[in-house]
Amino acid sequence: MSGPLLQVDSLRVTYGAPGRRVVEAVRGVSFEVLRGRCLGVVGESGSGKSTLARAVLGLEERVDGRIEFDGREVLRMGRAEIRAFRRRAQMVFQDPMGSLNPRLKAGAALAEVRRVHGLAKTRREAAAQAADWLATVGLDAAYANRFPHELSGGQRQRVNLARALCVGAEFLIADEPVSALDVSVQAQILNLLKSLQETRGITWLLIGHDLAVMRQMADEVLVMKEGRIVERGPVDEVLARPAHSYTKELLSAAPSVRQALDRRAAERAV
Ligand SMILES: Nc1ncnc2c1ncn2[C@@H]1O[C@H](COP(=O)(O)OP(=O)(O)OP(=O)(O)O)[C@@H](O)[C@H]1O
Ligand SMILES: [Mg+2]
Repeated sequence: MSGPLLQVDSLRVTYGAPGRRVVEAVRGVSFEVLRGRCLGVVGESGSGKSTLARAVLGLEERVDGRIEFDGREVLRMGRAEIRAFRRRAQMVFQDPMGSLNPRLKAGAALAEVRRVHGLAKTRREAAAQAADWLATVGLDAAYANRFPHELSGGQRQRVNLARALCVGAEFLIADEPVSALDVSVQAQILNLLKSLQETRGITWLLIGHDLAVMRQMADEVLVMKEGRIVERGPVDEVLARPAHSYTKELLSAAPSVRQALDRRAAERAV
């Protein structure tokens, strides 16, 4: 199918019980993500980035507007369709430990999710496939026998990615996927995500604070402030002509992962 993989129109998300103060976390946001591309979303803390991500995946309740994934309206999906959608569109969280079951070895975690989704008939069959999925994220087969606490933060994030991919994820929302990791491995994980885009055609939305990281990763970027998009465009254009003063503020606060990514990019270019 052609057209954007994700199309969001006039999305609004509010929080607050009746009678309480209503928080308008997302205030009329429209954008699209083309197939095989990376859309960056940056903005200060509280600007609505995570709320936007959850709403897109159908995880928020008080949502208004339209969300279309591969031509189907997410907010109107029935149960079976939502199940399939949850396989195809998945979230990668900031804390890789928190999203893994501490009692499941990496291989078993992948086997489990494949069985739950009916993609492997037996545990044994699922276990055999797990090694292939670990290889996809750069881990050799021996890691299948490691518990989450026996992995580094970066390795855990790799297992999380394998778990999403092994049930058929085509679209990933990575909500600050490296901010809990050591600076030394941040660039590795970001580069892994980028290579999944390039080699497997994964479409993704990268949420972060850092425009310099977006320059390396994203094809286009949205800048959010107070629930609205205040700037958008190809990253180089936004970076070259930061029209909004807020973008300038973001630019001047580039953390150290920028240097690591710049180095990697320079190495690749050689
Ligand atoms: N469950 C909730 N209940 C009430 N208000 C919420 C809830 N979650 C978020 N908010 C509010 O919605 C707004 C947007 O929050 P959100 O977490 O989406 O921001 P963010 O851009 O992801 O910030 P950060 O960069 O800190 O992760 C904030 O004002 C926040 O306080
Ligand atoms: Mg957030």
